Formats: sequence, structure tokens, C-alpha cells
Amino acid sequence: MKITVITGSPRKHGNSFAMTDAFIREAEKLGHTVRRFDAAFLKIGGCHACQTCFKTGKACSFDDDFNIIAPAILEADAIVFTAPVYWYSIPAQIKGVIDRIYSFCVAGKDVSGKKCGLITCCEEDDVTAMDGVRKPIERSAALLKWPVVGEVLIPGVLNEGDIDKTDGCRQAEALAHKF
Ligand SMILES: Cc1cc2nc3c(=O)[nH]c(=O)nc-3n(C[C@H](O)[C@H](O)[C@H](O)COP(=O)(O)O)c2cc1C
Repeated sequence: MKITVITGSPRKHGNSFAMTDAFIREAEKLGHTVRRFDAAFLKIGGCHACQTCFKTGKACSFDDDFNIIAPAILEADAIVFTAPVYWYSIPAQIKGVIDRIYSFCVAGKDVSGKKCGLITCCEEDDVTAMDGVRKPIERSAALLKWPVVGEVLIPGVLNEGDIDKTDGCRQAEALAHKF
């Protein structure tokens, strides 16, 4: 399978990156081809809602790094989003990518049938603190007809390295087996 992974953390040694690395290592071991995009280190703005998607030959008329990710989403058999919780929600760093997936809908592209996965984490011990990441991904995936094959939701991690005190990386590895 071709799996496109899109991350949302700005912390290169953070918790969601550690889980992302574990997922990718295992997915590649299983023979999948993985392309990874770290949204926080790319230039990606929000959707302008201009409805001119794909009219200039590129996914978005506002030509930034989303136009590099868009073909990798179109070509992929599976999409995995990884991001921490920021204010009970999706970090701005990756939200621009998610919003601009709208371009495929506007242009009538058939993106249905891609498998979808989610890896997220947060400081609080309460798993429902991740609802603001989990629910929008689940509903958006349902609308796009992307079956969600697995989610890794790890509470109780604040600082870099905290993930090592949990089974988050093991769960991320297990997620790779669901594709
Ligand atoms: C701007 C910001 C907002 C945050 N908001 C929340 C929050 O609403 N709930 C929570 O439990 N943790 C929150 N956190 C903590 C992060 O989710 C937590 O540190 C997580 O492990 C970071 O993942 P990372 O290392 O992959 O970046 C926030 C952190 C930052 C920097």
C-alpha cells in the first residue's frame, strides 16, 4: 500500500513524532511505501474558499506546500494523520492541510476508499480531551468515504519523552498492521 502520513506537531522529538516514527518503521517493515509530510515545517495556509480548486492545474490556486501534499493524498491508498491536541482541538499546523482536502470535493475528485488512521496524544489523563481531534477526523473521513481502520489515542503525555512511559509507540506499531 501507498501510505501518506501527515504530521501536525512542531516538536521533532515530541510524543506524536515518536509514535509516527514507530508507525512508519513498522509499516515499511510490512512492505508498505510511506510518504511523510511534516506540516509544521512546511508553508501551508488556510483555505480561501475561492472554489477555484484544480482550475490552475494544481490542487490549490494559492500555491504553497499543500500543492506538494495534494498529489500524495490523491495517489495514496491510505492516509494517516498524527497530531497532538492543542486547546482540545486540531493544531493550526495541520488544520490547513485538512481544510484544503476540500479542494478534492470542489473539483469532484474521487478520493473514496482510502483507508484512514489517526495518532494523537495530549497532556490530560482524560481520553475525552482528544475528542476535538478524533471526532472531526472521524466525521471528515466518513464524508470522504475513508474507512478509519485504527486510532491511537494516548493521554497523559506532556513533555518530550513522556511517550516512552506509555505503550503509545507499541500501539502505533500495531496500527501499521491494520493497513
Ligand atoms: C499550544 C498547546 C496547546 C495544548 N492544549 C492542550 C489541551 O487542550 N489539552 C491537553 O490535554 N493538552 C494540551 N497540550 C499538551 C500537548 O497535547 C502535549 O504536550 C502533547 O504531548 C504534545 O505532543 P507533541 O510532543 O507530539 O507535540 C497543548 C500543548 C500546546 C503546546
